[in-house]
Amino acid sequence: MNNTLKAEPIAGYQHPSIAQYPRLRFHDIDDKWRVLLDAENVFWALGEKGAPPANLVDSIVSLYSKNKPTLDPEIDHFRNKLDLSAVYINPTDRCNGRCPYCYIPQEVRENGVNMQPGDLDTVLAKIETYNKTNAEAVGRKPVIVFHGSEPLLVKRDMFEAIENYKDRMLFGIQTNATKLTETDVRFLMKNRVSVGLSLDSVSAEENQKSRPIHGTEDAYASVMQALEWFDGYPGLNVITTITASNVHELPQMIRLLHEKKVTVSLLNPVRCTAPGTEVLRPSNRDMLHYFKQAVDTALELTQKTNRKIVISNFANTILAITAPTARRLMCDITPCGAARRFFAVMADGTSVPCGEFIGLKGFHGPNLVEASVEKAMAADSFGDVRSRVVEKIPECSQCLYRNICGAPCPAEVYAQSGDLNTVPAYCEFYKEMINYAFRLIAEGKTNALLQNQVSDSMTEVYDIARSLSDLSCQK
Ligand SMILES: C[S@@+](CC[C@H](N)C(=O)[O-])C[C@H]1O[C@@H](n2cnc3c(N)ncnc32)[C@H](O)[C@@H]1O
Ligand code: SF4
Ligand code: SF4
Repeated sequence: MNNTLKAEPIAGYQHPSIAQYPRLRFHDIDDKWRVLLDAENVFWALGEKGAPPANLVDSIVSLYSKNKPTLDPEIDHFRNKLDLSAVYINPTDRCNGRCPYCYIPQEVRENGVNMQPGDLDTVLAKIETYNKTNAEAVGRKPVIVFHGSEPLLVKRDMFEAIENYKDRMLFGIQTNATKLTETDVRFLMKNRVSVGLSLDSVSAEENQKSRPIHGTEDAYASVMQALEWFDGYPGLNVITTITASNVHELPQMIRLLHEKKVTVSLLNPVRCTAPGTEVLRPSNRDMLHYFKQAVDTALELTQKTNRKIVISNFANTILAITAPTARRLMCDITPCGAARRFFAVMADGTSVPCGEFIGLKGFHGPNLVEASVEKAMAADSFGDVRSRVVEKIPECSQCLYRNICGAPCPAEVYAQSGDLNTVPAYCEFYKEMINYAFRLIAEGKTNALLQNQVSDSMTEVYDIARSLSDLSCQK
């Protein structure tokens, strides 16, 4: 399994016992478990391989027939509704970081502009107006994530905006931590701002290679100091961008973060959106090996210490199976969240479907200082991104996992091929991680893999676990 292999969809197989249900297919997830799945609405049943299919037909098909009329429109609505809930704002296009994989072009990070405080206020006011007047959004507080480039380079303007809007909006900030002070941390925690920090290695030396900073600051030391100041703050998460250089460190990263009282980690494979970054991409085989170890490490630490650490993107895969319409990250469904559930705004006001499109000028939308949110959402380039559905990608259209995987990411595949409707380089990794997620669900580990507030708020629609032995089937 490597990046040069052609992606093969999971075709699944039929059985005479389910012949009258053409959307249902079996798939052997490993040597012990087998899943029966409707790829369209993600109805599934798991059983051990080896038991007679008649058991499954009797107990599952009636449940399937009963729930299908509800599940079909639910997933359709989830996939197709325009439901803007968050806007990513880059209050500056500049960054002191020189990370070799960054999807924001170096020219933008070095010579970009800062957003004028008046423009920031204009943009926030427009988002507020949209939420007040748009039927889907009425009554919900807009979510604003200050992202970048490096938002803390203009912390004064950003903190002032948070002060002004904190009662009407929910705020987050994503940072390399180099400009963070203890006073800033107190401000962010007091105002319940969600904070994402970036850390790529457990070693200062390796982190410096992956996340070098222009000037004298050191990203590793800054993040370590910030973790002490945040001291287990529940609104904190740490992103590790996975490359060929740090992929083997994933389990150690989970140990380090757990020791530092971090409860949410994101382990994101590098997106080779910027030219020349393909060399940084880890192989599917390494990704799979070490990502699984990281999941196992998180489970082991959670069980041993009774203090959870969740790998948020894997938790999203678990949710994509157990509660498909409750998933939070919107990369693993098509159309993805870009230009639909969120969009991004550059420091000069230019709107983009998602930050990952900043380097792809053909996808830039209207300037939000001048135009309305509705106008940005209606831009042709936003529509193009929304038009990317698994049904249009030849391999994915045949794949049983298409509505769990979502074939991310549009910006990356477009940068690589000039075509939105192509299969991603991480296909093999996605397939195997979904197999692994099914296995952990079969072993009853779902709750340990999800954040408490997510698992506690899930409502049961159908429960097939009561008769697991009945669910087994044979090819
Ligand atoms: C673009 S940065 C902006 C905020 C801040 N400068 C930081 O580094 O956290 C946000 C996150 O995107 C990640 N990132 C940047 N380029 C990426 C790429 N090509 N693929 C995946 N993640 C990337 C970074 O590692 C970081 O965790
Ligand atoms: S610190 Fe963030 S924005 Fe800056 S180069 Fe690194 S990943 Fe990109
Ligand atoms: S990218 Fe995802 S949906 Fe497409 S073929 Fe691969 S596993 Fe299936």
